Amino acid sequence: SLSKEGLGPEKEAKQALHEAGQVLAQGGTVAFPTETVYGLGADAGNTEAVERIFAAKGRPSDNPLIVHISELAQLVGLVQRVNETERALMASFWPGPLSLVLPVKPGAVSPRVTAGLDTVAVRMPDHRVALALISAAGCPLAAPSANRSGRPSPTLASHVLEDLAGAIDGVLDGGPAGVGVESTVVQVGEDGAVTVLRPGGVTTEQLAAVAASVRQDPALQRAVGEAESPAPRSPGMKYTHYAPKGAMCVVQGPRADAVSARIAAELAAAAQRGEVTGVLSFDEHIGHYRADVAVSLGSLAAPEEAARRLYAGLRRFDEEGATFILAEACPEQGLGAAVMNRLLKAAGHHIIHVHEDAD
Ligand code: TXA
Ligand code: MG
Repeated sequence: SLSKEGLGPEKEAKQALHEAGQVLAQGGTVAFPTETVYGLGADAGNTEAVERIFAAKGRPSDNPLIVHISELAQLVGLVQRVNETERALMASFWPGPLSLVLPVKPGAVSPRVTAGLDTVAVRMPDHRVALALISAAGCPLAAPSANRSGRPSPTLASHVLEDLAGAIDGVLDGGPAGVGVESTVVQVGEDGAVTVLRPGGVTTEQLAAVAASVRQDPALQRAVGEAESPAPRSPGMKYTHYAPKGAMCVVQGPRADAVSARIAAELAAAAQRGEVTGVLSFDEHIGHYRADVAVSLGSLAAPEEAARRLYAGLRRFDEEGATFILAEACPEQGLGAAVMNRLLKAAGHHIIHVHEDAD
């Protein structure tokens, strides 16, 4: 860790930022807080540095990284052009949890960053420490979430250390990440239509207030058993991310009482089989369930709170050794869409649909 003893807190923070910037400028890797989740940064133009990210995370090399900038001037060096809609999105949501996939300027970043694509994803994070670190490094930073590949993304510096201690050069501790889920990744067509490749911190509702046309990448609708789902345009979306070690399943249906009854029954059956049971639910229903590990994401009416709590909650199942986990679906309004996307991925798209009719 980069923390210093014997300095006042302010000087200590300044000193840590300065040192971290130097580590990055020299090709090292440093984890840092953003408003979404913690990222693991490296100089986006330095292939060896970027390879250290992939090695530390155990990340498949065909999954490209997001490039983080601290000022708009850096964008000119990275991308070939920015159209009117893209400009409007940047004006509305930067700094903030929106990543734009843009045509990359040849040679602007390491080919490892783009995984050989002719596009690069760029965002300007809305976090004091992240912005100061990019400035201190003096270069755009390639930064995926700072977790081991396949683990829930880190929302605390301690999560980063759990996964990556010894494999990275340092971590800046900025306290809990604010949003709790990653940025929204979008691509804008020639016609100005916005395609959401990954739902995240900026909601579809917010995008639609700025852009005339917003649609989801059809690959996001993938359901279990579906034969030929289209290949996702965001390569990362095809991996089972955020997966707890136990088997996990999302339970959903039109009637909350039927869903709750089914979850309770499945938990009881699993306990009978000797499983260490886990349930992920909401304040309104968590009291209905008996499980070894019970995690509430807050009220069903507060998806922002659910997003903030989600990844720490998923980590708890691993910490407490849950072998069988049921997650209750939540409404897909606002940040609820990103929460459900992450839950379904964590569950490897295993879903129990409860179809019981009202009596
Ligand atoms: O909030 C975030 O975005 C966090 C923080 C650290 O900024 N970063 C993050 O990075 O979530 P990562 O690597 O975990 O996710 C990057 C996502 C992946 O789904 C990847 O496939 C997609 O962005 N992506 C990156 N470059 C792309 C490109 N050129 N075209 C399409 N998708 C791209
Ligand atoms: Mg990630």
